[in-house]
Amino acid sequence: MRLVSGPSRRWRRGLTAVTALALATTGIVVAASQASAAAGCKVTYSVNQWNTGFTGNLTVTNLGDPITSGWNLTWSWSGNQQVTQGWNGEFTQSGTSVTVRNPSWGAALGTGASVTPGFQATYSGTNTAPTAFSLNGTVCTGAVGGTSSPTPGPTTPTPGPTTPGPGTGAKVDNPYVGVAGYVNPEWKAKANAVSGGSRISSNPTAVWIDRIAAIEGTEGSSSNGAMGVRDHLDAALAQGAGYIQFVIYNLPGRDCAALASNGELGPTELPRYKTQYIDPIAAIQADSKYASLRIINIIEIDSLPNLVTNVDGAAGTDMCRTMKANNGYVEGVGYALAKLGPIGNVYNYIDAAHHGWIGWDSNFSPSATLFYQAATASGSTVANVAGFITNTANYSALKEPFLTINSTVNGQSVRQSKWVDWNFYVDELSFAQAFRTELISKGFRSDIGMLIDTSRNGWGGSARPTAASTSTDLNTWVNESRIDKRIHAGNWCNQSGAGLGERPKAAPESGIDAYVWVKPPGESDGSSTEIPNNEGKGFDRMCDPTYTGNARNGNSMSGALSGAPISGAFFPAQLTQLMQNAYPAL
Ligand code: BGC
Repeated sequence: MRLVSGPSRRWRRGLTAVTALALATTGIVVAASQASAAAGCKVTYSVNQWNTGFTGNLTVTNLGDPITSGWNLTWSWSGNQQVTQGWNGEFTQSGTSVTVRNPSWGAALGTGASVTPGFQATYSGTNTAPTAFSLNGTVCTGAVGGTSSPTPGPTTPTPGPTTPGPGTGAKVDNPYVGVAGYVNPEWKAKANAVSGGSRISSNPTAVWIDRIAAIEGTEGSSSNGAMGVRDHLDAALAQGAGYIQFVIYNLPGRDCAALASNGELGPTELPRYKTQYIDPIAAIQADSKYASLRIINIIEIDSLPNLVTNVDGAAGTDMCRTMKANNGYVEGVGYALAKLGPIGNVYNYIDAAHHGWIGWDSNFSPSATLFYQAATASGSTVANVAGFITNTANYSALKEPFLTINSTVNGQSVRQSKWVDWNFYVDELSFAQAFRTELISKGFRSDIGMLIDTSRNGWGGSARPTAASTSTDLNTWVNESRIDKRIHAGNWCNQSGAGLGERPKAAPESGIDAYVWVKPPGESDGSSTEIPNNEGKGFDRMCDPTYTGNARNGNSMSGALSGAPISGAFFPAQLTQLMQNAYPAL
């Protein structure tokens, strides 16, 4: 991912893949009745449970007159269930009674409208479902008026549409929770062929659909496998995987501020992108054969942020100016969202660059505004967006343990250092959480979650500092304290010294749906010297270890490894280094 330098929540803990095996899913529909003239409601309730805890998901539909000034939903537990956190509503529990009040942003509930609060809870013994729910004091019967006695005790699991989850039309809040990820066998085989690779090759990585031919499978291509989209989906079913990750990556005029990942479609080929790329992918993903899989799409990395940072000034490029002027990125992303989002088991995450790219105020809010514009372009709405991903294929550290944005040295802020360069963030986690809040303030749903690509941001090994520096010189202190050992935070190609980061993990931190490995470790970012190819890939000097840089990396050395093949092709020496410098260590 590229950068431009220069001055310019969700809560919940997740299940790991191990606990996932112990999951059970049950669901019930509660229908009973009540009272006042035009009041009525319907509630569906379902849980994913393990031995000591569970997540619960509710869909509450108002069947009566519009509610305008706030709603509350109440129920009682028959056991010792205790809500620990919730979303899409404010949860309180007193004894066995639970109350969920509307979140501050959603007091209204029109006739026929639904809300989807969810929560995490602990329990022991039997996790019996509540037998009655009330909305603003009216027992929910599934009808307006009706009989006044709540239907008692339906604890039998009901399959089908009452159980939110894959294939039922009701999406879960965080598709990573409670299920195992698909392991791409083609990447696995390449990783296994590198000494020590079997230690990491069973991790889920994303499948990049990086050209039209990749939909069917591209036998003979140097940077991709022979398996097509259906092959991967079939393999995911055979593996018993719960989720699979694809990267939608083929916009016209792709990678407008760099050359290494330019693609097959020219700047005016939006119509081809729609009909020959997105439409066929959507048709496959909508096949009911795959309804049991949560299909996660990472939408078009390195596209929209380029329109914010790489159009004007010294960092600007002709191709980015063209793609801004013709609106191809915005309409392309909107089209992808509009086609893929309505599929009941599909979850779209839009690429949101990384802190070393849009962490400056001049880029932060304008990027969020542009994302909203794209998410509502080409007939799309924000409902098609499950969240955003940061750090895709980049190297920004997840956490800087010895450095915060508020650190000072000798009375000087770290923001003044050459490394931080007036940015407002020093690491990805703090950036991703803050950016999520910004996105919601622009109109994205309050239940969006962030992903962080941790495939190559570990920065372990012998060069990793174990304490903050004791220097009194600002730049020396920052350089000795930071774990990200790049020459410049704008360097993005095959970085020397990098290590594998956190292993894929669901719901690791507040607001973060998962740590993911989207860039498959060991796949090159670009060739170190020019290599002719028929994929549209150019030679970007940011991948040449002898290059002295440009305006986008503060005219610094590229920090790239030598001997690299074209982007996407396997680079065993890089995987060896990533394993050596893994953090957490292998
Ligand atoms: C390349 C793609 C490749 C992906 C994953 C990108 O930089 O352009 O062809 O599939 O990386 O390695």
